[in-house]
Amino acid sequence: MSLFSDLPLTSAAVRRLFRHQLHLQPIRPTLPHALKSKVALYLHIPFCESLCTYCTFHRVLFSEPLARAYFAALREDIRQAHAAGWQVSEVYIGGGTPTVLVDELCTTLTLCQTLFAPKVMSVETNPNHLVPATLTALRAAGVNRLSVGVQSLDNTLLRAMNRFEAYGSAEDILPRLALANAYFDTFNVDMIFNLPGQSVASLQQDALALLEADIKQISWYPLMPTRQKTSLLRESMGAYQLKGEHKKYQQLCRVLGHRYTLSSAWCFNRNTVNAHDEYVTQNEHYLGLGSGAFSYVNHQLLVNDFNIERYIETVQAGGNRLVAGQHFTPAQALSYRMLLQLFSLQVAAVAPVDRRLRKLWSADIAALKTARMIQVADDAYVVTEQGRYLALALMREFYVAVNTLREQMRELQASEQRILLQEVE
Ligand SMILES: C[S@@+](CC[C@H](N)C(=O)[O-])C[C@H]1O[C@@H](n2cnc3c(N)ncnc32)[C@H](O)[C@@H]1O
Ligand code: SF4
Repeated sequence: MSLFSDLPLTSAAVRRLFRHQLHLQPIRPTLPHALKSKVALYLHIPFCESLCTYCTFHRVLFSEPLARAYFAALREDIRQAHAAGWQVSEVYIGGGTPTVLVDELCTTLTLCQTLFAPKVMSVETNPNHLVPATLTALRAAGVNRLSVGVQSLDNTLLRAMNRFEAYGSAEDILPRLALANAYFDTFNVDMIFNLPGQSVASLQQDALALLEADIKQISWYPLMPTRQKTSLLRESMGAYQLKGEHKKYQQLCRVLGHRYTLSSAWCFNRNTVNAHDEYVTQNEHYLGLGSGAFSYVNHQLLVNDFNIERYIETVQAGGNRLVAGQHFTPAQALSYRMLLQLFSLQVAAVAPVDRRLRKLWSADIAALKTARMIQVADDAYVVTEQGRYLALALMREFYVAVNTLREQMRELQASEQRILLQEVE
């Protein structure tokens, strides 16, 4: 079945589709040989000073000795990838919170700069780290894109998300954003809409505050909870409902639309030249290093060990840190590429050479055109205003499927630890 053959897609249909498509085998794949072309490098730092209730990423509470050992192992992993012949055009350091140890982070950035001389070095952080000493150190180490998680400027919501104490109130955050906005070519603020308890008025106020601060880039994600997270969130924030999502998205597009351009379905940009969005969508291949990082190379999705201590030991011993993977069929790889292009709001008008794939591709394009989700523009198809929401819904479901995989990997790790404990007793 082609990805878009049953348009208009309901969220449930899309969800079923991705559950079906993303099916990691807990095998032990090995990393393919280095590609001839340059790839994006993603480095994962899984430590945070406080854990947010909605967060579906691989992260644990910060412990300095463990984090120092982890950064050292990660640098060893980078050196090994370089020695194996990997070449890198862009480096993205995400988490968790990469700035938990600025000295370790800067040593790691300098190593990347020396080995790969990438044109983009991007780092994620939290508002409590937007202070002159850290911003200056990051810039000196070559960072040209900084992304900060804010999520909301509503103090009631910040409290419910467990962010208020550790990462600051709206009144603390706003002046810090104004300071950091001037430091980097690209300064991105991560926000979330459709949070339980988030009113349309609260969202509108957030959008107006960021407009007023003239933030260079805003990634305004829809909340993407897994099934497990949805039931946990019910206790801390209230019931999650998909129903209001479309209306809230339209409202954001309306408020921000006259000053910002969409560089993807949820990324608002003041300046399209420095629009660095998700590395996943902008790079055909990416290599993920660090505990819990994903790679996508030669149509293979590969997952690193989620056990932080074991990751450190394996790297030190020069062993294999991959724990699961999936080889996409040509049809799945085509659907994945189509999804990323739709999300980036532009679909290349280049049909695959293979006859069977060309048929699938043509069916998708025809369905999208009939449903007025895309229209012809020069030598490509651009996603229409109504198509944007479909692109957002598809990407949301893709990320929910990826987040569900993360949850499964963490559960696997927890059950391994339980077995080990039972053996010791
Ligand atoms: C994983 S965090 C890492 C960087 C930093 N710790 C932070 O809080 O921004 C990156 C972003 O992912 C987004 N995020 C995490 N969990 C999410 C979820 N369940 N739904 C939507 N966005 C989520 C948040 O907007 C967050 O800023
Ligand atoms: S959203 Fe960011 S700060 Fe919060 S737990 Fe997730 S990674 Fe950590």
